[in-house]
Amino acid sequence: MTEVLRIESLHKRYSHDSSEVHALKGVNIVVKQGEFVSLMGPSGSGKSTLLNVLGCLDRPTEGSYHLGGEDVSRMGDDQLSSIRSRYLGFIFQQYNLLPQYTVVENIEIPLIYQGIRLDSESRARCVGLAELVGLGHRLDHRPMQLSGGQQQRVAIARSLVNRPQLILADEPTGNLDTKTSHEIMTLLSKLNMSGKTIVMVTHENDIAKWSKRIVRMRDGVIESDEANTPDPIDESGPGLPMHLLEEAA
Ligand SMILES: Nc1ncnc2c1ncn2[C@@H]1O[C@H](COP(=O)(O)OP(=O)(O)OP(=O)(O)O)[C@@H](O)[C@H]1O
Ligand SMILES: [Mg+2]
Repeated sequence: MTEVLRIESLHKRYSHDSSEVHALKGVNIVVKQGEFVSLMGPSGSGKSTLLNVLGCLDRPTEGSYHLGGEDVSRMGDDQLSSIRSRYLGFIFQQYNLLPQYTVVENIEIPLIYQGIRLDSESRARCVGLAELVGLGHRLDHRPMQLSGGQQQRVAIARSLVNRPQLILADEPTGNLDTKTSHEIMTLLSKLNMSGKTIVMVTHENDIAKWSKRIVRMRDGVIESDEANTPDPIDESGPGLPMHLLEEAA
């Protein structure tokens, strides 16, 4: 299988005046196309730091990071933001939707960052993604008018709009109740089954067990890295339009 990312001997140090935090202390990890990885570990173990490096939001202090075959560890800010918009989709705990924009406009945002001119074709794609996540009937609603689970669905649709090679999710169900978390994890699992590679930070075992590989961090290093067999997905309840899923992948 094709490698989506490769990290070797990665260190991250944060310096403050005279003190220094050594947040990542030699991390090695390879993620291949089609994987669904959970990143776990206690508070302060370096999960978000690693996810920020993976997301090209932060640079390693030492070591290398290859994303889609390109060495991104030495790239400048402009190159990094171009890589971000071409290769990556992001899902956050707080959804990070723009309140003044509608559902479909929020889904369009990454296209704007990428400098793509919005037209009827791009609009149709964003409407299709809204339908994919079950929000075809809420296109003109604003985030405030949606439930938390619906807002996270918009964020998932937005993360797909650039057809990213890799989706990064930081506690995607952290603000949701159990039932809604279940729906969001079903959606992410189906996206993974359609071919999307996902790396997700979570501190909940119940959420990690949806993924196919569980990487545990402790004190800035990877402590364990194990395959996991998720439970079969419950197919009852609203299904995803499979043709839309294939187009999204
Ligand atoms: N911008 C920063 N400046 C200085 N230190 C930082 C910074 N970001 C993180 N750290 C430190 O790096 C270490 C790892 O932090 P990180 O946020 O990656 O942990 P985490 O595993 O995501 O924890 P949590 O589960 O609480 O989110 C911690 O000691 C933290 O205090
Ligand atoms: Mg964190």
